[in-house]
Amino acid sequence: MPSVIAALDVGTSRVKCMRMQRRSGRYVLTHFASRSALPASGESQVPQPQMSEIIRGLMKEIGVKRGHAVASLSARSTLIRHVEFPQMPLEDMKKALKLNSAPYLHQQYTNYNFDCYIIPPRGEAPKGPVKLQVLVGGASTQDVLYCRDSILGAGLIPLAINLAPVAVLNAYESSDPKMMEEDTVALVDVGYENSVISILSKGQPLLTRSIPFGGSHVTGHIAKTLSVDEKAAEEEKLKMTEAVQVLVASCLSVFARQLRSSIDFFERQYEVPVKRVLCSGGTALSNVILQFLTDEIGLPCKAWDPTENVEKDLKSQKSELLKEQGANFAVAMGTALAVM
Ligand SMILES: Nc1ncnc2c1ncn2[C@@H]1O[C@H](COP(=O)(O)OP(=O)(O)OP(=O)(O)O)[C@@H](O)[C@H]1O
Ligand SMILES: [Mg+2]
Repeated sequence: MPSVIAALDVGTSRVKCMRMQRRSGRYVLTHFASRSALPASGESQVPQPQMSEIIRGLMKEIGVKRGHAVASLSARSTLIRHVEFPQMPLEDMKKALKLNSAPYLHQQYTNYNFDCYIIPPRGEAPKGPVKLQVLVGGASTQDVLYCRDSILGAGLIPLAINLAPVAVLNAYESSDPKMMEEDTVALVDVGYENSVISILSKGQPLLTRSIPFGGSHVTGHIAKTLSVDEKAAEEEKLKMTEAVQVLVASCLSVFARQLRSSIDFFERQYEVPVKRVLCSGGTALSNVILQFLTDEIGLPCKAWDPTENVEKDLKSQKSELLKEQGANFAVAMGTALAVM
C-alpha cells in the first residue's frame, strides 16, 4: 500500500482531490482541494495538457510531488446499468461486454471499458439456476485514456480509474454503515450537466439512473432569463437573491419531477418506501436548492458529509470548511476508499 494516496474526482467542470496519508496501517485524511476545469463553450472537456496542469496545481496545494493517484471520472460517455447475467466469473463478464455489449446493454458500445459489480443476492436463494444481478459501469476508452494521460502528465502514477457513481456508493457505505444496512435511501449526485440517482435498500444498489440535468442548466437558465453571461449568472446563483430563487425554482421543478418518478418507479417495483434523499455535488452546497427539492419531491433532501467516519488530521485547513464543502467531495472520498 502506498504511503500517500492522491484521490481525484475528475469532474466535467471541477476537479476535486484528497490526500490520504498512511499512518500505522491506517489512512488519515490530511488535505483536500478543488479547482475549476470548465471547458471552453462548445467543448466537452479541457484539453489534456491543461487538465494535467490543473492536477499538477492541485497536487502542489495538497503537498504531493509525485506518487500514486487514483481517479474517478464522470465523463459524458459514462454509463451505469443494472444487468442480469448467467452465472459466470467477473472477468468473463467484462470480456463478454467488451466483445459485444448489445445482448446485455441493448446497444453496441464499441471502444468502451467496462467494470462490473455483482450485487449480493437478497433473502433466501431461489431454486433453479440463479441469475446474477450485476451493476455494470462503462466509459469510452478515449475518456479513460484522457484521464490516465492527464494523471501521467501531472507526474503521477495512476493506480486505478473508477466511475464517479460507483465512488459515491463507496463513500456512502463508509460514511453511514448503519443507515446503509437498514434503510432505503436515494443518493443523488448533482453534477455539471448530468446527475445520477442511485437507490439503495439495505445496502443493495437496486436502481441507478442518469438524468440530463446539472448545475449548468440552473446557471444557463439564469443567464438566459436575465440576459447576462454565464459568469455573471454563476455569481447570481451563488448570491441567490429572492428574485433569482424564483428562476432557480422553475428550472429545478423539471429535475425534481424526474427524481420523483425514479423514486415512484422504485417504490412500485420493490414495494419499499424511500425514506430520504442524500445529495452530493456542487449544487448540493446550496441550502435553498435543497429546500426546493425537498418541497417538490416531498421527501427530505439533505447534503451529506462523506468524510464523517474518516480519520482526519487536517494540516493548514479548517475542518469547518470541509464540513461546509463535504458534499462536493463524495466522489473524491469514495475514490480514495476504493484503494484503502
Ligand atoms: N454553493 C453553491 N450553490 C449552488 N451551486 C453551486 C454551489 N457551488 C457549486 N455549485 C454548482 O455546482 C456545479 C458543479 O458541480 P460539481 O463540481 O459537482 O460538478 P462536476 O463534478 O464538475 O460535474 P460532473 O459530476 O457532472 O462531472 C456548478 O454548476 C456550480 O455552479
Ligand atoms: Mg461530479
